[in-house]
Amino acid sequence: MAANKPNNCPFCGAPEKFIVLAKDFKEDEVGELSDATKSNLEYALLMENNSMLFYACSHEISMNAELAFMFKALERMEAKHASVIRKILGVPEPEEVEDNRGRCHALDQLNLTDSVERENRAIELYKKIVDEAVEPRVKQVFTAFLETETAHTELIKEAGSRFGVQFNPVI
Ligand SMILES: [Fe+2]
Ligand SMILES: [Fe+2]
Repeated sequence: MAANKPNNCPFCGAPEKFIVLAKDFKEDEVGELSDATKSNLEYALLMENNSMLFYACSHEISMNAELAFMFKALERMEAKHASVIRKILGVPEPEEVEDNRGRCHALDQLNLTDSVERENRAIELYKKIVDEAVEPRVKQVFTAFLETETAHTELIKEAGSRFGVQFNPVI
């Protein structure tokens, strides 16, 4: 039976064109990272990890099943992004799960507006990484992340509009 690619990676949300079937996969060597890439990636890891905790918290406090489901999916995708970045940086996965209590607001509406701001900050940083990185593998990974984070903003805005949330225009 021929294996088909899903439209989006079920783990990190990357679109089909970035998905490689297991039979065709060969591990790309990232090699030595430049200092600029290293510090950009360390910052990206911090952002992804914070967003993962924020979405986990937003999931926990939401009383709305649709929003809770969306926040859970976002939590999983940002966790996957964090672990891809750790792998490139050569940083081990944390041994303990961090406490997500107090990492979000008490209201869905505030969590929705905060979500879009977080995604926009990630988009800004990832554009910079794609522009500046001299490592082809880093460019490739962050090009995929960029598309995923852009899809996240759309997803969140669409959900928010159904709950009457006003989002600030991107400046
Ligand atoms: Fe992410
Ligand atoms: Fe995201």
